[in-house]
Amino acid sequence: MDTAPSDALVFFGATGDLAYKQIFPALQGLVCEEGLNVPIVGVAKSGWNLEQFRARAKDSLEHHGGFSDANFARLVRLLNYVDGDYYDPQTFQALKQALGAARRPLHYLAIPPALFAAVGSALAASGLNENARIVVEKPFGRDLESARALDRTLVQFFPEDAIFRIDHYMGKEPVQNIVYTRFANANFEPLWNRNHVRSIQITMAESFGVQDRGAFYDATGALRDVVQNHLLQLVANLMMEPPSGDSHEATRDQKAALMKAVRPLDAASLVRGQYRGYRAVPGVRPDSPVETYVAVKLYVDSWRWAGVPVFIRAGKHMPVTAVEVIVQFDKPPRVVFSEELSHGYLRMRLSPDVSVAIGLRMKRPGERMVGEDVELIMSEQPGSLTPPYQRLLGDAMRGDSELFGRQDIVDAQWRIVEPILKDPPGCIEYEPGSWGPEAANTLLGDYGPWRDPKPAPGA
Ligand code: BG6
Repeated sequence: MDTAPSDALVFFGATGDLAYKQIFPALQGLVCEEGLNVPIVGVAKSGWNLEQFRARAKDSLEHHGGFSDANFARLVRLLNYVDGDYYDPQTFQALKQALGAARRPLHYLAIPPALFAAVGSALAASGLNENARIVVEKPFGRDLESARALDRTLVQFFPEDAIFRIDHYMGKEPVQNIVYTRFANANFEPLWNRNHVRSIQITMAESFGVQDRGAFYDATGALRDVVQNHLLQLVANLMMEPPSGDSHEATRDQKAALMKAVRPLDAASLVRGQYRGYRAVPGVRPDSPVETYVAVKLYVDSWRWAGVPVFIRAGKHMPVTAVEVIVQFDKPPRVVFSEELSHGYLRMRLSPDVSVAIGLRMKRPGERMVGEDVELIMSEQPGSLTPPYQRLLGDAMRGDSELFGRQDIVDAQWRIVEPILKDPPGCIEYEPGSWGPEAANTLLGDYGPWRDPKPAPGA
């Protein structure tokens, strides 16, 4: 693996929404906290000049990045901007000039995948792919076939170890903490299998709708937007075998093995919902069949996990914004006390605040052997620290690919959802602010109910 650091950072789509909300704050963090000191060139087709681009960066930091004059001054001196069409060779000549003496640029494609081929080939035609790295944003394809086609395009211009497929969930501290907690403690391993775990629930709830992303969302839907990528990554972190060795590939090898063992979904294991009012969002088709909520039941066909259902749900316009994982354990094998016992569980809250808690049954004070369910919070933090894009772009600049997708993992993730992409069951309408269609409760059967995440403190 090539570990020489990249000596310039180019980002395409520099005037877009992702850049505004995530990339400028990440760049400020890299420059001011991690000492990044290389040219940073934004590329876009907006008819802007450098001053406008700098003003956009400032505005972004004021709204999303903790603006300070001193930090902004450090970032702004590195910023440059190239305006031009991605299909025009002149744009890439201008980029080459802007890169000056840099010889190992990192190109970050924060643009729609339909443009990847044009940008990749134009970079190659101007020699800007030499010793370069390329970071591509999700969605990586729309299905297995298009993901493979995209990959064939990229590998024409960049070797596999220079391609970084970003899934920002992988850069989140609490998502990495799942792996850390599992493998830095010996006490989870004996319990972490079909003999003790009864089911797993993952909830990704967002209290807002699709906002100004109607056109994007209506071509995507919840399954492609967050389940095929972010939430399956959580499944991998929760359920993969311990990595052997400490190479960058060791973790990805285990993720690939786990993803390949997930049974493809079928229509009976899926509930789709659409919030009332979605079709009126600008950019959304008036008769849109696209889901803003999805609940799935999946199984991992391995010795460790055979028969343990994993329930995943993700929805817009839910009652709260929170991401939580519940690992539910079996009940004791025999009744000792004359009361109905509940299932113990481990709860990992990943956002917006971060906590790890364990649900237990404890005795109530008094003479009788009668208990109550309690939750012991083992760790609690207000939020996650380093923004995920800062972590991931920093890793990519150093050539560290551990937290990025690999083609076989991406393929396996598409293979899981593929059977229901072409002919999905219809959407059930739900009220904004509710927990989605009632049918999602039926999906859980005896494993219900869903454990609804609580609102964040102060929300
Ligand atoms: C993005 C999805 O990938 O992840 C969005 O496109 C979603 O629809 C977002 O809201 C959630 O990520 P985060 O980090 O904001 O919780």
